[in-house]
Amino acid sequence: MIRDLILKNRSYRRFYQEVDIKPETLKELIDLARLSPSATNKQPLKYILSCDPQENALIFLHLAWAGYLEDWPGPEEGERPSAYIIILGDTEISQSFSIDLGIATQSILLGAAEKGLGGCNIASVNKEALRKALEIPNRYEILHVIALGKPKETVVIETVGADGDIKYWRDSQGIHHVPKRPLDKIIIG
Ligand SMILES: Cc1cc2nc3c(=O)[nH]c(=O)nc-3n(C[C@H](O)[C@H](O)[C@H](O)COP(=O)(O)O)c2cc1C
Repeated sequence: MIRDLILKNRSYRRFYQEVDIKPETLKELIDLARLSPSATNKQPLKYILSCDPQENALIFLHLAWAGYLEDWPGPEEGERPSAYIIILGDTEISQSFSIDLGIATQSILLGAAEKGLGGCNIASVNKEALRKALEIPNRYEILHVIALGKPKETVVIETVGADGDIKYWRDSQGIHHVPKRPLDKIIIG
């Protein structure tokens, strides 16, 4: 089951924007992060949830999508995420958030996949502009954004070829292909 969920949990960047995600659903996902491991159990991560179209539009302005798809500026209106989770590090609790952040994002995204939703990790965030737009206090370091919605695209996994190219690509049917390195290339001992 975990393998199925991990396979289903692809990075989606085009969504049925008209399908709402309710605040309760976002809270259920944050509860999965809350229950996940945290270094020295400090639990320094805090979250801003958005499923309001106006707030979503503000957040969207400060994100960059799919760097390898150079001709694609990101999802067009109508195919944008229905919700966002902004992950913050509370600097009054800790100065270091790295592994907690990865665990929390994966818990949230696996939970979303289980609910039939999909999402995308977004690290390319204009953090200072987002801080200003949402008036996020300086106490909170902006770490990451998760975009969520009902996926409107097909994503398939490939095996990295002999040329070693790991760049994802989109074919003429709009199918998104993601090369993964084979097991025998990543287990080195
Ligand atoms: C830490 C992290 C940051 C990422 N940042 C971005 C981003 O800023 N924009 C984007 O479109 N995708 C982003 N992604 C998604 C990756 O491009 C994606 O995970 C990768 O292409 C593999 O595809 P998969 O998630 O379907 O396996 C990020 C993923 C991770 C784990």
